[in-house]
Amino acid sequence: MYWFIFGGNSNEHEVSISSAKTVFQAFNSEINKERYTVKTFYINKYGDWLDSHLSEKILIGRIENNKTNKQEIFNQKKINFLDGIEFQNIDVWFPLLHGFNGEDGSIHGLLRFTKKPLVGCGIIGSALGMDKILMKTIFSNLKLPQVNYLVFQNEDLNDKEVKNKIINEILKKLKFPVFVKPSNSGSSLGISKVKNESEILQALEKAWGIDQRILVEEGLEVREIECGIIGKSKLLSSEIGEVIYESDWYDYDSKYYSDNQITIPAEIDSKVTKEIKEIAIQSCKALNIFGFARVDFFLEKSSNKILLNEINTIPGFTKNSMFPMLWKASGLNIEQLVAKLVDISLDL
Ligand SMILES: Nc1ncnc2c1ncn2[C@@H]1O[C@H](COP(=O)(O)OP(=O)(O)O)[C@@H](O)[C@H]1O
Ligand SMILES: [Mg+2]
Repeated sequence: MYWFIFGGNSNEHEVSISSAKTVFQAFNSEINKERYTVKTFYINKYGDWLDSHLSEKILIGRIENNKTNKQEIFNQKKINFLDGIEFQNIDVWFPLLHGFNGEDGSIHGLLRFTKKPLVGCGIIGSALGMDKILMKTIFSNLKLPQVNYLVFQNEDLNDKEVKNKIINEILKKLKFPVFVKPSNSGSSLGISKVKNESEILQALEKAWGIDQRILVEEGLEVREIECGIIGKSKLLSSEIGEVIYESDWYDYDSKYYSDNQITIPAEIDSKVTKEIKEIAIQSCKALNIFGFARVDFFLEKSSNKILLNEINTIPGFTKNSMFPMLWKASGLNIEQLVAKLVDISLDL
């Protein structure tokens, strides 16, 4: 039995449901359905776990996630998600939760107690992949190319003097525009592009609302390049893709509500492509990330310089997501890809 976990107490809840729908369909496709029996757990926005019967209804669209009757929620007072499933019936876990409480290693820690394999990496890789500050610190240590950035943590943003000090440091050390980001978030939530001094404070407060550890980066004119990774002892990279959007930057709405143009393979010279694939593997190894991941890069338009942006340890798996498209272009369609991810988790 293959157990999916989706939804989650995170600001990327809706994205997770879309990803889970796509993966669920792939497991139930003609070529996979004989081999895999899939059961699911849905975690609602409040962190309550639903039983597999109700969870599946959400996946096949019978009930809307927002309208789940509170009465129907399974065991609201405690997380006893293992009740009612026989341990021998678990072959592999497949957490498909984006963002905090899911992509950050917490679910990986919980599942470790079942001593069953899971699709994706472990606690460390997940936690590092979710935390932009720590991820960047490790990349800096390895001298991997990145944009200039500043970190603000352990600061009290309610204090006016502290705010002024932060603003002055940004003005002194970085060039506008800058991107202000919460260290822990995803899907561009909490991020602002700041064009001048007057916009800094609002951006800091927005990021602070999500995480009190904040990253401020120099914003460049860039192309956005992404590379898929799968594997365990040996990591493989996919073709690389480019996403082109109409908005000023790749914010939440342009990620999920607009038709972006995706080009795979990206039109980049072969030397740069090779280097991007190598850095993708090297950066995953550095953070102990395996199973599957999507490594995102910027390519500075003026210089064609490669800059490593971030690694997503549970990449979007919706119909329009880059990760399945990258693997399709690399010879694995979505049905083959999900089967491959299970094989990798089992070391096959
Ligand atoms: N330093 C930067 N220079 C140019 N664009 C940036 C920079 N940082 C972020 N962006 C824009 O913001 C988007 C989201 O930032 P990112 O750090 O990838 O956050 P998330 O984890 O939410 O995807 C990027 O895809 C890009 O469009
Ligand atoms: Mg990103």
